[in-house]
Amino acid sequence: MQDLQQKREGFSSGLAVFFATLGSAVGLGNIWKFPYLTGQFGGGAFLLIYFLCIILVGLPIMLGEFYLGRSTRKNVVGAYEQIKPGQGWGYTGIMAVLGVYFIMFFYSCVAGWVYLYLFKAISGDFAGITAAVAKAQFGGVVVGPWSPIIWQVIVMATVSAILIMGVKQGIERITKTLMPLLFILIILCDIRALTLPGAGAGVDFMFNVDFSKITAPVILTALGLSFFKLSLGIGTMVTYSSYFTHDNNLFGTAAKVAVSDTLVSMLAGLAIFPAVFSFGMEPGAGPGLLFMTIPLVFSQMPLGSILLIAFFFLSSIAATTAMLSLVEVPVAYFVEEKGYGRKKAVMVNALIILGFGVLAALSADSSALLGQVTVFGKSFFDLFDYLSSNVILPLGGLIVAIFVGYVVKPAELRRELTNDGAIPVVLFDAFVFILRYITPVLLVLVFLSSIGVIK
Ligand code: PHE
Repeated sequence: MQDLQQKREGFSSGLAVFFATLGSAVGLGNIWKFPYLTGQFGGGAFLLIYFLCIILVGLPIMLGEFYLGRSTRKNVVGAYEQIKPGQGWGYTGIMAVLGVYFIMFFYSCVAGWVYLYLFKAISGDFAGITAAVAKAQFGGVVVGPWSPIIWQVIVMATVSAILIMGVKQGIERITKTLMPLLFILIILCDIRALTLPGAGAGVDFMFNVDFSKITAPVILTALGLSFFKLSLGIGTMVTYSSYFTHDNNLFGTAAKVAVSDTLVSMLAGLAIFPAVFSFGMEPGAGPGLLFMTIPLVFSQMPLGSILLIAFFFLSSIAATTAMLSLVEVPVAYFVEEKGYGRKKAVMVNALIILGFGVLAALSADSSALLGQVTVFGKSFFDLFDYLSSNVILPLGGLIVAIFVGYVVKPAELRRELTNDGAIPVVLFDAFVFILRYITPVLLVLVFLSSIGVIK
């Protein structure tokens, strides 16, 4: 046991902790989900609500997960079992591992499309395309059947190769190199987009303050988004924080990651919407925006072909670093609880993800091979997305709030989170109050609304 503890890898510095954790938070969610929702649901008013959600739900749960990981130095199942052995809490860790799989089944598929679009941008495939061609190209990609599967395999091979290199040589090295690059690329795209004629309409779309759009469903959307964005509820932050340095200021890390992640989302919106409006397009949601509108709009502007490469490269970075944190959850579990070597654990998990991920890759469009097959009235692709984002994530978040808020010994929690008293206890007191009395109530509301019990 002692041996295992000593051999366990970890991040080497506070900076490494920051970039790895930010790498997890920044993902596809920043590039299409956040900017679009902000624009659609009241701009500045939505941002304000989102910030409140981060403070009242996102940060408390993140700190709760940090506690579980750093105090035990274990994977998500082992962490619960170490704190409260033999009372069944380990099963909630297993649920987190399953949640990771469901996300990965479709996330790896969408990431495959992103990689493919980067490849297409580099090969100049988007030069002079029209709206009809952009649509047909994307249609061809989602219908497949081979190319989405092949790109999904390439994605998993990339993620696996990085993970096999280990926590320091793999995750730390890659996130420390790529996250700063992501910032540079996004700012490059911003400068170009914001200097286009008519860019102001795009800025207005994102930042106009319209409180009349704030309704109950919008608040719940902001709430759901806040913990999807911060990678909460499925053990990623438990696993990563088990690699944190002992003296890391967990409050500081949580706050810096939340603020930087929101900044990336806003910078992404500022790269996308000014360009979209400048060319008189309608801002569509989700995949349509990312895979049809962007190639169309960027290919029409000066320097567009280079920016398209930059844009899909930064999207690939975001998707990849988020997936590192996702897959590390079952990898750490297999290594520590099942006695697998790291390499074998990575390979087995990649195969599990690809095995079921194929179902997502073949069902993303209604005319795809499995597009007409439905389970509980949803295609595989939609089912994986729905189960993970709408059911397991909020439920996992709620379990963390209850476990850390009510089951863990308060003195023990205080010792870990204040680094033995080095961090002001008022911060800690505020955290405990919110985690106990506010976060669970809000989470129950999101959960009930996401499964359709309240509308
Ligand atoms: N935060 C990631 C994104 O914005 C998604 C994610 C969710 C990653 C949950 C890990 C865990 O895309």
